Amino acid sequence: MRIAHLSDSHINLKYHPQHLPRLRRALEHALERNYADHIIITGDLTSNADARDLRTVRRLFESLGIMKSSKLTVVVGNHDIFGGPHLADDVLSYPGHCQRLDYAEKLAIFQDTFAELFSDTITMSREGYPFLKRVQDVCLMGFNSIAEHSAVKNPVGSNGLITDEAQEQARALSQHHAWRSAGSRIVLLHHHTFRPKDVSHLEVADGFSQSGIAARLEQWTLKLYGKRQLFKFLKFAGVDIVLHGHIHFTGAYLRDGIQCLNGAGAVYPVFRGGGYFYNRIELEGTSRECSAIRVDKKVIVPIPENNTVVMANR
Ligand SMILES: [Fe+2]
Repeated sequence: MRIAHLSDSHINLKYHPQHLPRLRRALEHALERNYADHIIITGDLTSNADARDLRTVRRLFESLGIMKSSKLTVVVGNHDIFGGPHLADDVLSYPGHCQRLDYAEKLAIFQDTFAELFSDTITMSREGYPFLKRVQDVCLMGFNSIAEHSAVKNPVGSNGLITDEAQEQARALSQHHAWRSAGSRIVLLHHHTFRPKDVSHLEVADGFSQSGIAARLEQWTLKLYGKRQLFKFLKFAGVDIVLHGHIHFTGAYLRDGIQCLNGAGAVYPVFRGGGYFYNRIELEGTSRECSAIRVDKKVIVPIPENNTVVMANR
């Protein structure tokens, strides 16, 4: 089975009109070349949690024939719930917006917009996460990693958390036949799971040194709380691959022996001039091949087993 993974398309017709054709181009690239039997998008499908933008994304999926569970899996991102400041004026009012926002309602709008994609998921939770989805020999486990607003720990909605309750449910799901009998087990979440040292090997497009990227990422206040505990669970559950987005580059790294791929450089890469990449994962029996595919040029970068040579939108 071949999976195309991308993330963070940040569709917003008002402030980022260029993102819609870029998303279409990346999806068509994967579909027309038969690079993918299944597509995974790990959150921030929209930039401003606007219901009209969500419907625009839905219509794009429909027009490409992938608005079905067997073809496409999505998980929610922080921008799909909290949106984001798009003008300088917004920056001051944005924390108040995050505080007042009805998280459950926003999540429900996202889930309803893409309801078909969750039609055959296995879940114990009313909100729909965590879930299992079996696609052929592969079992996916999708998480909602978006932390609720907190004046101290999550003032602008960008930090992540997998709650204790969700981890408990995930533990129970990992005993399910669909998970245990799968040839490959893949976890999907929006937030990145790396520490700076996990990505210090990445080369980047815009002239930053290798240590530069780590320092730059460390400065950002975007983080997933409780990563160490999460990885304990991932090892317990026999996870083969983690797919995520949130920090806008494409790159691969290992953490605790688990292959992790960031797919967030396909539409809105932070390292300008580096091109637009999505990840491709080819799974057959126990063999696995990962590569990063550049959409705007004919470039395929194989990701070696030890992840020593990888790129970040180079
Ligand atoms: Fe994000």
